[in-house]
Amino acid sequence: MKIVINGISGKMGAFLFNYLKDKNEYEVIGGISRNELALGIPIYHDLKTCLENETFDTLIDFSIYPYCLEVLKQAIINKINIVSGTTGYKKYDAEQLTYLAKKNQVGIIISPNFSLINKEIKEVIIQIKNNLPNVEIIEEHNTHKKDKPSGTAKYFAKILNVDKEKVHSLRIPGIIANHHLIFSDINQTIIFSHKINNRQAFINGIEHSIIEVTNYKTIDILV
Ligand SMILES: NC(=O)c1ccc[n+]([C@@H]2O[C@H](COP(=O)([O-])OP(=O)(O)OC[C@H]3O[C@@H](n4cnc5c(N)ncnc54)[C@H](OP(=O)(O)O)[C@@H]3O)[C@@H](O)[C@H]2O)c1
Repeated sequence: MKIVINGISGKMGAFLFNYLKDKNEYEVIGGISRNELALGIPIYHDLKTCLENETFDTLIDFSIYPYCLEVLKQAIINKINIVSGTTGYKKYDAEQLTYLAKKNQVGIIISPNFSLINKEIKEVIIQIKNNLPNVEIIEEHNTHKKDKPSGTAKYFAKILNVDKEKVHSLRIPGIIANHHLIFSDINQTIIFSHKINNRQAFINGIEHSIIEVTNYKTIDILV
């Protein structure tokens, strides 16, 4: 499986590259960055040049919104499958990307959080909310994170039907990503906390998504 990483110089892109390069199933054949990087693979300043020089199946994107949008569209039109973890996509982006992916018969998975949280926890928290209907959401990220609230907090707010005034954002140096859901009624409180201690937490979800888009052309966009 041949892969290109958009955002390969970033915290997540670099972590993913270091992980995938030792795996036999994947071949990271290039990366996209505005910088010159010595990673032992070709680094292109844009996707167009990359497409002119390389043949690959799937583009993995951990970059920045809205820059990522044009990259994704260009990739889809060129029949490249997509896994994107960049946060900040809007509902209409999801609609447009879904339309393009279907038209070009490529797979695309976009998720604001590739750790266990999306898949395993959804039913549990909906159950808790049914019992304790008042919900506050606190998201904590590194000071470098540009978008606010986080994509994961927006996802939680959507599935739990929480107003945006009840979503709170903290930016703290040295942490990766923490989310706290505070469920209460007048008598009691349950606090549900998810903390990312290491970027390895995202890897299983990303690997699963690579297989889904490449082998099954899965389209699954969570925004
Ligand atoms: N879905 C998940 O599970 C998950 C997990 C972690 C992070 N994220 C999200 O993934 C994204 C990246 O996170 P990160 O921590 O890796 O960020 P980061 O360290 O700031 O890296 C961002 C990358 O985007 C590129 N970039 C930045 N500004 C750009 C611009 N204006 N034009 C083109 N490229 C630009 C940078 O490349 P150059 O400067 O080299 O060009 C860099 O490689 C964020 O949206 C974050 O919220 C999602």
